Amino acid sequence: MEYERIIRWCEQMAPVAIIMKQIEQLPAWPSISAQDEICRRLHKATVAYPLSKRWTKSLLKLMEQKITQTMEGKDIFADDNIQVDLFSDDLIEQIVRLHSCQLDEDDTSFVTYHSMYDSSVNIRMRVLRLHNQVGCAIWEAGIMLGELFCRIPSAFRGKKVLELGSGVGITGLLLGRALPAADRCGTVIVTDFHDVVVDNMRYNLDLNRSAGQAGERTAGASAPQKQSEVNNNESTDFISSASSSCSSSCSSDSSSIGETLLICDQVDWSTVNGAYFEKYDADICFAADCTYSEDINVHLVAAFKMFLSARGALQRKKQKNDSGVESVLTACDAAGAIAESAAGVATAAVVTLVHTCQDLKQVFDVFATRSIPFVLIACTRRNPATLQHFLDTVAATEGLRLMDVTALGRRHLPAGTGGDETFYYFQNADAIQLYCICLVGET
Ligand SMILES: C[S@@+](CC[C@H](N)C(=O)[O-])C[C@H]1O[C@@H](n2cnc3c(N)ncnc32)[C@H](O)[C@@H]1O
Repeated sequence: MEYERIIRWCEQMAPVAIIMKQIEQLPAWPSISAQDEICRRLHKATVAYPLSKRWTKSLLKLMEQKITQTMEGKDIFADDNIQVDLFSDDLIEQIVRLHSCQLDEDDTSFVTYHSMYDSSVNIRMRVLRLHNQVGCAIWEAGIMLGELFCRIPSAFRGKKVLELGSGVGITGLLLGRALPAADRCGTVIVTDFHDVVVDNMRYNLDLNRSAGQAGERTAGASAPQKQSEVNNNESTDFISSASSSCSSSCSSDSSSIGETLLICDQVDWSTVNGAYFEKYDADICFAADCTYSEDINVHLVAAFKMFLSARGALQRKKQKNDSGVESVLTACDAAGAIAESAAGVATAAVVTLVHTCQDLKQVFDVFATRSIPFVLIACTRRNPATLQHFLDTVAATEGLRLMDVTALGRRHLPAGTGGDETFYYFQNADAIQLYCICLVGET
């Protein structure tokens, strides 16, 4: 179990100092057998989806240092219990190999996320650490939102959802792959604005589509067979393997995973318009960890408002069509105005209702049953000033109403998620705020 957790954290490339602390707690550490076991398991887990060479080099170097320190000051000839060979052959081989290999710019690496909701779901993501793009790394709020959504699956059954600023695509991939078969989303649209980020996200969608087709997880299937488990290559070489499950030509804009259609699209909040949101007419719009700078907050809030207005207008049009009064309303501006203000009053009442909800699922129901659009945003509290700027921007935007639903969302997650050790980056989950935004009055 201890080894398993260490390898899972390695698969996520968690900070090496933290992994080293875990390694040092192994009862057999630093015996040759413990070193061998780590090398063997790490190789097995990452042969198909290699980790960053730089990261692996740092970890192995730290292991080497720690083993040396453990033996410092000990008289290896006086104590029969001290092993004379300090380092396992595998460890030495890997260290030498990494020292002699070129750490090129393209330090492509993969993170494997094991869903906490359904441990049979493994999501592989290519991360591009050297591109210095925030969208090519993994962020806690995206994971938290995905895990949360999996726990209220009926809210997504058959729905079309749109994500802004999707980065590597983790939340959309969880929605596409981890929801139970009976509650599958209809369509998940993941978006971002930067070319590199969008290309990488598209790659990840294809990568996980291939994984699904390879039988990693299909509806109702038993525990998947990991790619790494079917690889029989015994050499513990962490650096020469490369993923072959998705070639560099992965480029389709949509992937079908199970029955959920995943669409990858390029959109910039600073230039997006209402027509874009009308085109997709998504039921639910969300974003995670997208409030990290004051510049982008302004555009994000404007994009949210555009979504809410476009969706609201389409909903009202549908309702008018359904009740057969459209012709009357279009002929009579006054009647239209009354209908609009009635919608505003209804939305204001919904805000009051949200305050009485017991959990996030109820919040979804309150909005869905009244066909009132809303957006959901998860924000990790890193820089309090930037988060406050986002909140202030929403407050200053006419017609927008923000509700803090952090406590309601948290009710769906297992207690003490911050301490859950299956995914390192979820350790910070307690610092994630969850907000719901809707339009009140002005539409
Ligand atoms: C911190 S990342 C979060 C990614 C993902 N939601 C997650 O939780 O892992 C923020 C994302 O917002 C995207 N972004 C920033 N400004 C944007 C803009 N103007 N239009 C669209 N996306 C933008 C970035 O490219 C990046 O992918």
